Amino acid sequence: MNHIKAIAFDLYGTLFDVHSVIDQCEQHFPGRGREISTLWRQKQLEYTWLRSLMNRYVTFEQATEDALRYACRYLKLDLNDETKAALCNAYLKLRPFPEVPDTLSRLGERGLQLAILSNGSPHSIASVVGHAGLRDRFDHLLSVDPVRIYKPHDRAYELAETAFGLSRASILFISSNAWDATGARYFGFPTAWINRSGNTFEEMGQRPDWELTGLDDVLKVLDTRN
Ligand code: 2OP
Repeated sequence: MNHIKAIAFDLYGTLFDVHSVIDQCEQHFPGRGREISTLWRQKQLEYTWLRSLMNRYVTFEQATEDALRYACRYLKLDLNDETKAALCNAYLKLRPFPEVPDTLSRLGERGLQLAILSNGSPHSIASVVGHAGLRDRFDHLLSVDPVRIYKPHDRAYELAETAFGLSRASILFISSNAWDATGARYFGFPTAWINRSGNTFEEMGQRPDWELTGLDDVLKVLDTRN
């Protein structure tokens, strides 16, 4: 792996736990936190993909709010403006997975350039990363917002090549989202899929180069020579 010069990370679900909003969902809707969070995330992703297909871009925050409104309506929960604002705000303060801060430090010490490449808006990425005190770990925070189309479109992945000034073959892409790892492989990034909870990879004609159980396993991958 000595040809890897930079790493681009997905944010939501990869470095940060989207289900850390369950606690706030529980406060507002006791006993319903997990199902709200699960449907909220599923719809949020669908809305980004659908809007890309329709060429009707809205920011990730808007897609997130729309998805929350859908989830609550589907679950027959009354979402007032105050609760909606509180839950959307919780999405700006997600928790990193436990191994993430230390692993990022160790990757940086190896002289690799590090970036987030996310469907999040510049504001949402900066909020989540800043709230966790991790801004200084990254050379770039890359949002798809300038190209107004979401991953897994090629134009989104191109943002990492441009920011790093490197060809795709020397950028390791890391995501816990199988759909994202699939898009990254089609684009041509060497790709690691972080599979923390025994999920099933997509059947879309690609496989990740590495399947790992946590971000810290990336250090081992980088130590292998090819
Ligand atoms: C991302 O961070 C939505 O997880 C996706 O781009």
